[in-house]
Amino acid sequence: MSNLANKIALVTGGSRGIGAAIVKRLAADGARVAFTYVSAEDKANALVSEINRAGGKAIAIRANSGKVKEVEHAVEETVKQLGSLDILVNSAGVTVYSPVDNAEDTLPALEQLHAVNVTGVAAAVRKASKYLGEGGRVINIGSSTADRMSFAGFADYAASKAAVAAYSRGWARDLGKKGITVNTVQPGPTATDMNPDNTEFASVVKAETALGRYAAPEEIAAVVAFLAGPDASYITGSTIRVDGGQNS
Ligand SMILES: NC(=O)c1ccc[n+]([C@@H]2O[C@H](COP(=O)([O-])OP(=O)(O)OC[C@H]3O[C@@H](n4cnc5c(N)ncnc54)[C@H](OP(=O)(O)O)[C@@H]3O)[C@@H](O)[C@H]2O)c1
Repeated sequence: MSNLANKIALVTGGSRGIGAAIVKRLAADGARVAFTYVSAEDKANALVSEINRAGGKAIAIRANSGKVKEVEHAVEETVKQLGSLDILVNSAGVTVYSPVDNAEDTLPALEQLHAVNVTGVAAAVRKASKYLGEGGRVINIGSSTADRMSFAGFADYAASKAAVAAYSRGWARDLGKKGITVNTVQPGPTATDMNPDNTEFASVVKAETALGRYAAPEEIAAVVAFLAGPDASYITGSTIRVDGGQNS
């Protein structure tokens, strides 16, 4: 029997990158999976077809994580179309280069960053908590930059991910009495559109890790799948670093 048989999952930001790898992995482990996207409709539809052709079940929902009503709608649509909700993975996220001494120019970007990376995550968990029951799982994708920042210009991003980790610890307390676990996965450099592994910047980042390379999105998805499964039943309020030793 598959690890996640009969489970229903919602993954925000599932059309590309780490989110898409999580969608595929949860589906391969037996879950029926809804995921959100905001612009890449072609990629979202292709992912749905790939999973459904392989005998799984996936649906794509357009929902901008920067808009609370759309996030709430995505949770409700998941329950309406798939029947219930057992696992919420918040992967939708954006980054911005916003050095503090250029703050006037980057204030709108800061507001957008927080709307997606922080308020969007909180909105999803608030709405999902109405549907998750005993054994429910919330897994939030943070970032290794929440703990250690080695480059200029990304303080806003790092702070948004530190907020995700702090929120997750608090939500673990709020939801523990219902048997729901809440954890944060903090990826290090992972090869996606957001952070390609073939740039000049990437060679500097690779040298920072103990393993000397970027992660594949599947390596992050594997940890999310573990946290979503029965073997992680006593892990809650934890922050798990998956960073190739970048912060070691
Ligand atoms: N890559 C890394 O090195 C790295 C490291 C640490 C943490 N992370 C975190 O991991 C998560 C995924 O990152 P990634 O590298 O996979 O990014 P990515 O390649 O840029 O993919 C982002 C995904 O999120 C979706 N998305 C973006 N903005 C959204 C919004 N406003 N509403 C709904 N969906 C939205 C995108 O949908 P569309 O396709 O529709 O645009 C896409 O599916 C993020 O939270 C990121 O901060 C990444």
